[in-house]
Amino acid sequence: MTQAGFRLYPGYLTAHAQRALVDAAFEAAEDAPFYRPMTPMGRPMSVEMTNLGPLGWVTDASGYRYERRHPVTGRAWPAMPLALLDLWRALSGAPADADCCLVNLYRDGARMGLHQDRDEADFSFPVLSVSLGDTAVFRLGGASRRAPSRTLRLASGDVCLLAGEARLALHGVDRVLAGSSRLIPGGGRLNLTLRRAAPVDL
Ligand code: SIN
Ligand code: FE2
Repeated sequence: MTQAGFRLYPGYLTAHAQRALVDAAFEAAEDAPFYRPMTPMGRPMSVEMTNLGPLGWVTDASGYRYERRHPVTGRAWPAMPLALLDLWRALSGAPADADCCLVNLYRDGARMGLHQDRDEADFSFPVLSVSLGDTAVFRLGGASRRAPSRTLRLASGDVCLLAGEARLALHGVDRVLAGSSRLIPGGGRLNLTLRRAAPVDL
């Protein structure tokens, strides 16, 4: 399995830190509302999304890419919270900061199909993912769909890193265990995915 470089930090975030990140995400969403993106094939995703930081990951009929502006409001994305940059600096081992935090909101049976994160300029930068709220049944495979996959549970406060060989591992969320946490207002799960999307001149 191409999972070398996958690291899970169970319960990395304190209850206080989790609450602060949820508050920051929902506050940012007042300016940059959650919306339901369309896949390039024209199907609405079940996950609602917004972004924080200079760049935001978007999808529509033109494909997957990073944009500086919210596709619905036309405004720049809200600033990346310092707590997230601190987390990136502590765990990523990367020589430059993350420039995108994708915020995924899973409500009412939302899930995410198996995919690779490959819209970034430089795959030597890892992907850092924070789980908040209801527990996810997360599927992690290898770099090809023929490789075996396994599932693991990501609970609130868990942080995981896709680095090295696992940077391009297929992954997704099979389902979310509704009601397993009371952290998210209105219920569900919030996932914060930090990435370096733009190339870096070092
Ligand atoms: C993603 O791959 O964009 C989200 C993963 C997750 O929600 O844990
Ligand atoms: Fe992903």
